Amino acid sequence: MAEVILRGVTKTFGDHNALENVSMTIPNGSFVVLLGPTGAGKTTTLRLVSGLDQPDSGEILIAGQSMRGLTPAQRNVAMVFQQYSLYPHLTVRQNLEFPLKSPLLNTAQAEIEGKVSAIAEMLQISHKLDNKATALSGGEMQRVSIGRALVRNPQVYLMDEPLSSLDAKLRSDLRIELKSIQANSGATLLYVTHDQIEAMTMATHVGVLQNGKLIQFGSPRDLYEKPVSTYAATRLGQPRINLLPADVFAGAPPRAVTIGLRPEQILQGRGEDSLVTRVEHLGDQTRLHLSFRNHQLVTVTEPHSVLRHGDIVKIQPDSPLYFDADGMRI
Ligand SMILES: Nc1ncnc2c1ncn2[C@@H]1O[C@H](COP(=O)(O)OP(=O)(O)OP(=O)(O)O)[C@@H](O)[C@H]1O
Ligand SMILES: [Mg+2]
Repeated sequence: MAEVILRGVTKTFGDHNALENVSMTIPNGSFVVLLGPTGAGKTTTLRLVSGLDQPDSGEILIAGQSMRGLTPAQRNVAMVFQQYSLYPHLTVRQNLEFPLKSPLLNTAQAEIEGKVSAIAEMLQISHKLDNKATALSGGEMQRVSIGRALVRNPQVYLMDEPLSSLDAKLRSDLRIELKSIQANSGATLLYVTHDQIEAMTMATHVGVLQNGKLIQFGSPRDLYEKPVSTYAATRLGQPRINLLPADVFAGAPPRAVTIGLRPEQILQGRGEDSLVTRVEHLGDQTRLHLSFRNHQLVTVTEPHSVLRHGDIVKIQPDSPLYFDADGMRI
């Protein structure tokens, strides 16, 4: 497996910088999740690493080797796209076998069959192996696309929201599988998702893109606890971080314009009065929507909370984050 390095990578479409001077070192064997809203440059990053697109400037290295001018095949990377991309005229089995039948690999038929059946089982698609790829649901097609990447042994896996079209149960099964495949094989994985739980549970590192710029790169915990800005702070955490004018609570440092309170950074039972506006029982926790001096806040409390709409709860901040006028953390 391999380390991937982006050095000052810029990619322009027309007069729009899809990526601007992005530098990032993706350690060998890491699981890197790229976060950012639509248009931030996530897919562009994957396409450049895969070789489907070329950077306008800057350089990409895989395992210490410059990728300049190399085709996707020469890079030995496996990509799973946002939209499934299968050979429609082939069966599921043939789609899964395809990457292994490359003359370059020269894989024995018995080994091919073994790998395909193991992957099909993991992806819970064994019963559909003889279906035409077109005779599948969207979620099944996506599983076959993932399978096609996994049967190979590439240097790097690139996955663009691979689980987004799957139902919650399958998504959580495959989250665990992907993470264990990555951990066991030591594969390097660059992964795009909008799903908070995927990011927190699978990533060894998280990269945050904002308008084509990489604004933070670190562990999920670092990003959660020490986001560089309000933008970075809102990328992780469900419910989202509460952002309020800093002066609604006492104790803000002089330059602070915004106070950021994760739901668990709101202590209940002492402090100042807030009004309960909505109570959501989620099974393992209760989500409380509060109104505090005309600002809306979301916090969490115990699963069997008896609080109701209209109740008063005392709250106070507990080690909050503060941000300056530019939204940068102080
Ligand atoms: N082939 C292209 N031609 C022109 N503009 C493009 C092309 N590909 C991407 N862009 C632009 O580059 C920017 C980044 O696009 P990209 O697809 O990387 O976003 P993304 O972060 O993957 O978003 P999403 O979450 O919606 O998938 C966007 O403004 C997009 O419109
Ligand atoms: Mg995309």
